[in-house]
Amino acid sequence: MKIGVFCPIGNNGWLLSENAPQYMPTFELNKQIVQRAEHYGFDFALSMIKLRGFGGKTEFWDHNLETFTLMAGLAAVTSKIKIYATAATLVMPPAIVARMASTIDSISNGRFGLNVVTGWQAPEYSQMGMWPGDEYFAKRYEYLSEYVQILRELWATGKSDFKGEHFQMEDCRVSPKPQADMKIICAGQSDTGLEFSAQHADYNFVFGKGLNTPTAYADINDRLKHFTEQTGRDVQTYVLFMVIAAETDAEAMAKWQSYNDGADMEAINWLMNQGGKDTKSGTDTNIRQMASSVSPVNINMGTLVGSYAKVAAMLDEIAEIQGTEGILLTFDDFLQGVEDFGERIQPLMQSRQSTVAEYQMLTPLEKSA
Ligand SMILES: Cc1cc2nc3c(=O)[nH]c(=O)nc-3n(C[C@H](O)[C@H](O)[C@H](O)COP(=O)(O)O)c2cc1C
Repeated sequence: MKIGVFCPIGNNGWLLSENAPQYMPTFELNKQIVQRAEHYGFDFALSMIKLRGFGGKTEFWDHNLETFTLMAGLAAVTSKIKIYATAATLVMPPAIVARMASTIDSISNGRFGLNVVTGWQAPEYSQMGMWPGDEYFAKRYEYLSEYVQILRELWATGKSDFKGEHFQMEDCRVSPKPQADMKIICAGQSDTGLEFSAQHADYNFVFGKGLNTPTAYADINDRLKHFTEQTGRDVQTYVLFMVIAAETDAEAMAKWQSYNDGADMEAINWLMNQGGKDTKSGTDTNIRQMASSVSPVNINMGTLVGSYAKVAAMLDEIAEIQGTEGILLTFDDFLQGVEDFGERIQPLMQSRQSTVAEYQMLTPLEKSA
């Protein structure tokens, strides 16, 4: 089972609450988080792109770094962990993204990969005059499909003459090519999104569901399998969960309760309003499920709350689900959370015993580094 950290590239991570830790996103903070994650054997770090926040008292996500530049910096100060940035494909031409990816491939010695998103929140793009209109909701994966074909062509051959509805390339060149096979992530939840991943992505990221219901999301693996059976490609699921852990279940639950008590309703209402705008992508978009969520304080993210042992057991349950290859983690407090994961949770996880064994081989000096 692979484990990754979802870098807090926006202020306050993923908790819209006045009672949660309040912090700005900085390179220094993300560097410490990802270096400690690497130390404990995390497999990858991913950052999202977010171009407009939700406001409210906590100014939620009004402060966000840029993903490629952040991950290029992190690539330079790490040596083993895989690094993923997110391409906002509506506003970043594929030939530029292909070149940026080749550059970070060079900085990281082949540890870089790309998350591609269609975009779902119009104000992120309309604020710069680049929202194509709400008709885009129905076409966004067709657009992304052309986009990814161009990326793959440029990385494989250094050249593209692709002609589609959205892009016309004319002897377009990108060199140097990446040294490593460039992996592409998509986070489709709708049928069109899953169909896209089955055809073009290497991994599909999905939202975990519910509170302490680690396997509740599992049906999406079957939905993805339905499409990979048609394309004949092997595309595994990675699932996103927030971990809120402490010595005892009661202590962890008290933290979760406190975050809920301090919910920033103004920011949450803004998000719900935006999440409801896509009425064209079929019936199963998770973004729309957010709008009807009963606990939106962490954007309706699947949440694992409990003692270190209980969280380890729930993570092991996820590892048992057919078609799931990895888990992407957020924490209420990222620095403490990564430490607790490395020291207290991971050693108890059956599904991480090979990583724990590697860690135990380190000298005391290396462990304390
Ligand atoms: C792990 C993860 C990361 C995501 N990162 C972004 C992001 O950086 N920017 C964005 O606009 N959407 C992001 N999304 C939303 C997805 O790209 C996607 O639009 C959403 O999951 C809904 O699925 P659908 O597009 O199939 O309707 C992310 C989703 C997940 C699960």
